[in-house]
Amino acid sequence: MHSSFALLAAVLSVAHAQTRSDKRGLVFVPNKKTPEDNTIWVRDGSDLTWYYNYDPTPSPAFADKSQSDFEFVPMLWGSIDDTSFLDSVNKLIDGGRNISHVLTFNEPDGSTQNGGSNVAPSKAAQVWVDNIIPLTEKGIKAGLPTCTGGEGGIPWLQQFLGNCSQLISTDGNQKNCSYDFVGIHWYGNFEGLASHLGEYAAAYVILYYLLKQSMINELINSWLCSFPNKTQWITEYNLDNQDLTATQEFFNTSAEYFDRLDSVARYSYFGSFRSRDSNVGPNAVMLNNDGQLTDIGSWYLGSTATGVKPQSGPAARSQVDVLLAITLVFVGSVLLI
Ligand SMILES: *[C@@H]1O[C@H](CO)[C@@H](O)[C@H](O)[C@H]1NC(C)=O
Ligand SMILES: *[C@@H]1O[C@H](CO)[C@@H](O)[C@H](O)[C@H]1NC(C)=O
Ligand SMILES: *[C@@H]1O[C@H](CO)[C@@H](O)[C@H](O)[C@H]1NC(C)=O
Ligand SMILES: *[C@@H]1O[C@H](CO)[C@@H](O)[C@H](O)[C@H]1NC(C)=O
Ligand SMILES: *[C@@H]1O[C@H](CO)[C@@H](O)[C@H](O)[C@H]1NC(C)=O
Repeated sequence: MHSSFALLAAVLSVAHAQTRSDKRGLVFVPNKKTPEDNTIWVRDGSDLTWYYNYDPTPSPAFADKSQSDFEFVPMLWGSIDDTSFLDSVNKLIDGGRNISHVLTFNEPDGSTQNGGSNVAPSKAAQVWVDNIIPLTEKGIKAGLPTCTGGEGGIPWLQQFLGNCSQLISTDGNQKNCSYDFVGIHWYGNFEGLASHLGEYAAAYVILYYLLKQSMINELINSWLCSFPNKTQWITEYNLDNQDLTATQEFFNTSAEYFDRLDSVARYSYFGSFRSRDSNVGPNAVMLNNDGQLTDIGSWYLGSTATGVKPQSGPAARSQVDVLLAITLVFVGSVLLI
């Protein structure tokens, strides 16, 4: 239950958008047709220190990178009936890769049509007991399942933790399944993002010090949080389907906020693809249709604006459209003759 507080957040300092941050990582969603894009994220000077790819094993594109160069974080994506995730991670460790963190369950409260893994809490609890507990016992840090930003997320997690506790407890010896950090996804505006972080939050009562461009005080809600004092990883976030100015403003404000909060250990912007490949709107991307870094892409990597508009560059689809148009004109003129 969340009792809500209305808190007046004061603007305490003029923050400069911090351009570099070692919290930033890559959500790797490559397009097989444009493998040249893969090198952008690890080029000299890139700020990105870690990545995940929704898989238990490293991507071939980065297989030659050591954990200290570009840390791979394995993910247990969805339901499995065996210990294949545990076995994969152990194999990486035995092969000399120093795995220190794992992510678990991609949006288990979400439908598969929307990219969720759609897992019942009780099933996920069994998968956790079989695959994750043996890893945490070795000192590997595990993230709580990463739910959608929807209202069902926290109740799903509460069920999951209850079910997990039941599996490992015995009469007279109640135990809880432990985790080291919480994973969070968010699509929407900054105010929603800030209060969603507060719901999961790092302290019982959170005071948000929001820096608004207008420099006015902001009144927002906070809740008694569900996962007190836990480190947060924001592993997917964006302001989807908005115009470029609003998207850039959101990017700046949220990055500055994550960098400032000690409770946020890592974050990864969902947008490491070309505009025409985007399922979060054409402006919420780090690459234009030519594979060049947009302003957001370049800022995220710790550099300066490029001036490259997300929707610029020769989109494959528009080339097809042009061919189609030429063909239609041709057919049209043939018909007219
Ligand atoms: C493995 O990674 C952890 C966390 O990044 C680090 O603290 C530790 O020193 C690393 N161990 C080795 C042997 O590199
Ligand atoms: C465990 O899961 C089942 C089914 O999802 C649910 O009905 C039950 O209440 C859960 N138990 C706990 C302790 O949360
Ligand atoms: C387990 O978690 C529940 C709910 O958060 C808590 O009330 C209980 O004290 C915990 N038990 C142990 C042994 O930590
Ligand atoms: C919060 O976490 C820190 C560091 O792990 C710990 O020292 C502190 O006691 C925790 N506080 C609460 C209220 O659990
Ligand atoms: C975003 O931040 C960059 C500096 O990192 C700045 O140049 C740019 O004007 C900002 N854009 C918006 C819309 O706030």
